[in-house]
Amino acid sequence: MTEKVAVLGTGKIGEALLSGMIRAGWAPADLLVTARRQERADELRTRYGVTPVSNAEAAKTADTLILTVKPQDMGTLMDELAPHVPAERLVISGAAGIPTSYFEEKLAPNTPVVRVMTNTPALVDEAMSVISAGSHATAEHLAHAEQIFGGVGKTLRVPEAQQDACTALSGSGPAYFYYLVEAMTDAGILLGLPRDKAHDLIVQAAIGAAVMLRDSGEHPVKLRENVTSPAGTTINAIRELENHGVRAALIAALEAARDRSKELASGKG
Ligand SMILES: NC(=O)c1ccc[n+]([C@@H]2O[C@H](COP(=O)([O-])OP(=O)(O)OC[C@H]3O[C@@H](n4cnc5c(N)ncnc54)[C@H](OP(=O)(O)O)[C@@H]3O)[C@@H](O)[C@H]2O)c1
Repeated sequence: MTEKVAVLGTGKIGEALLSGMIRAGWAPADLLVTARRQERADELRTRYGVTPVSNAEAAKTADTLILTVKPQDMGTLMDELAPHVPAERLVISGAAGIPTSYFEEKLAPNTPVVRVMTNTPALVDEAMSVISAGSHATAEHLAHAEQIFGGVGKTLRVPEAQQDACTALSGSGPAYFYYLVEAMTDAGILLGLPRDKAHDLIVQAAIGAAVMLRDSGEHPVKLRENVTSPAGTTINAIRELENHGVRAALIAALEAARDRSKELASGKG
């Protein structure tokens, strides 16, 4: 018998995951989706050939349930879902900030729960998905979550206590790079370049740097030193970054993101 997987609350992240699973070889016939609006359900059926069902139906039919609603909608979803989830179902939560204990309290005793924090590059199969086991999830359950999220990028197992730090680094991470690109494009305009050209130059520099970081095996310091020649242009720019405390600002920014993630996890909206 083939395994059925249901994505509950198939919005941006849920759809990215669904399309990644299909690209990775899952049969659309084995994938169920739930949506709050009929037009969204119809759209998913037409686009991917998957089967829209109710949340209760998904709980009864699928072997694995992946919850991808917004954290503020999780209470309503769990009220609809929990009474129908048999204890052997694997429940994977993709919601930021909600601990596995929240689900374990609402589900039947011993239900395995896995928490995953992915990020929006899931849309282009370059996600970083950080995976933690709840109290009843085994290595097999973690491997299953890795297989599913591996379809849209890289995965990493961490203890759940590190999830808030990971949210600050990779969950929010893409936003910091967009922010840098935005600021550097403005700098290009100040230096007299048209916006579109400045944008293209910075984006390609970012892609080149990212591939070098991933593929060269070199430490970032070494890569930076390679473009920092004595009395050259780069060292003048680096001096300004240091003068303006950019390194300290980044450390403080990620600490603030980690703290906010902890606050959200403890229910402070
Ligand atoms: N976006 C990110 O950068 C990011 C990164 C990492 C993790 N996450 C996590 O991923 C989750 C989803 O985020 P997202 O950006 O994909 O949100 P989203 O686009 O709003 O997707 C959530 C979907 O769930 C649907 N929904 C809400 N309640 C439902 C219910 N009771 N039954 C069925 N469907 C329901 C919503 O319907 P409507 O269309 O009617 O609203 C929406 O389509 C969040 O928990 C977030 O923390 C997001």
